[in-house]
Amino acid sequence: MEEILKTFPQHVCSWLKGAIVYKYQDVWLNEVFLKGTILAQQRFKAHPNDVFLCSFPKGGTTWLKALAFAIITRETFDISTNPLLTNSPHDCIPFLEKELAKVEENQKNSCSLPIATHMHYHCLPDSVITSPDSVVTSNCKIVYIYRNMKDVIVSYYHFVRKLNKIPMENASFEEALDEFCQGISSCGSYWDHILGYWKASLSRPERFLFLKYEDMKNDPTSNVKRLAEFIGRPFTIEEEKANVIEKIIRLCSFENLSNLDVNKSGKHHPEECIAIENRLFFRKAKDGDWKNYFTLEMIEKVDKLIDEKFGGTGLVL
Ligand code: A3P
Repeated sequence: MEEILKTFPQHVCSWLKGAIVYKYQDVWLNEVFLKGTILAQQRFKAHPNDVFLCSFPKGGTTWLKALAFAIITRETFDISTNPLLTNSPHDCIPFLEKELAKVEENQKNSCSLPIATHMHYHCLPDSVITSPDSVVTSNCKIVYIYRNMKDVIVSYYHFVRKLNKIPMENASFEEALDEFCQGISSCGSYWDHILGYWKASLSRPERFLFLKYEDMKNDPTSNVKRLAEFIGRPFTIEEEKANVIEKIIRLCSFENLSNLDVNKSGKHHPEECIAIENRLFFRKAKDGDWKNYFTLEMIEKVDKLIDEKFGGTGLVL
């Protein structure tokens, strides 16, 4: 594998103390994600009813994992005993390209938990995306969460900066933004990520649910209901009357999760990866935090890019 890595185009992120990302199948990936993507492509076999939670890093993955887990396990655990109180959402729902063995074990045990991934649509293993007229039919469902691009940039900047233990004064936001706008970031480009899923959804819309982070904040109840219905676990009238939806929303809220001991001082440690402190997945969760970082020039640059990439697609960012 080490030899193969050397064959891919590389980029050195100067604002990140020289961290290296590799270009594979038109996607920029760090070493862990690159190796994991290749392994998943070689080995993973989707089951026809698998559900995937797909997102660009910093698009709302942690929140979506928590909500999906709470929805699916609501009959197994009472809210007060839910594993989300003592485990990171990332330990509850594994990433395909980081924790393949765990994903396969979940499949083997038919535990009906979704599978999370940051992989671009075109990079997904064949068995996930095979078209209906091919020999192997895939009916896997795909939930895609996305977020305002400017807030993703700020969130990403802080996440990777902290991961690499670089203080703000030594990490240029301007350089980070420039790279991001060239498509160079973990799993970049951002626009190709969203558009890959969006275009695929046009021919088989029934397989896809798109959730927007900001909409979920504004109206969590409707969106949690949509999510539950889509993944085949709709709420009953009795559950609605018993405020189960509100309880799940509260359990998975930023305020609740970010204040739990496990998310303040615990670590997420997928196979063969360095441990990541859980607290890094919880920062501010504020819409529009980008306003504290962007200059007028940066706003113009990103707005132009959004127009160029998303204009006419029907997607509103
Ligand atoms: P900020 O950096 O803007 O605070 P991801 O989960 O895809 O890595 O995205 C991380 C972003 O989602 C961070 O945004 C984080 O604070 C926010 N987040 C984490 N848990 C959340 C939750 N339960 N509800 C809402 N936002 C959450």
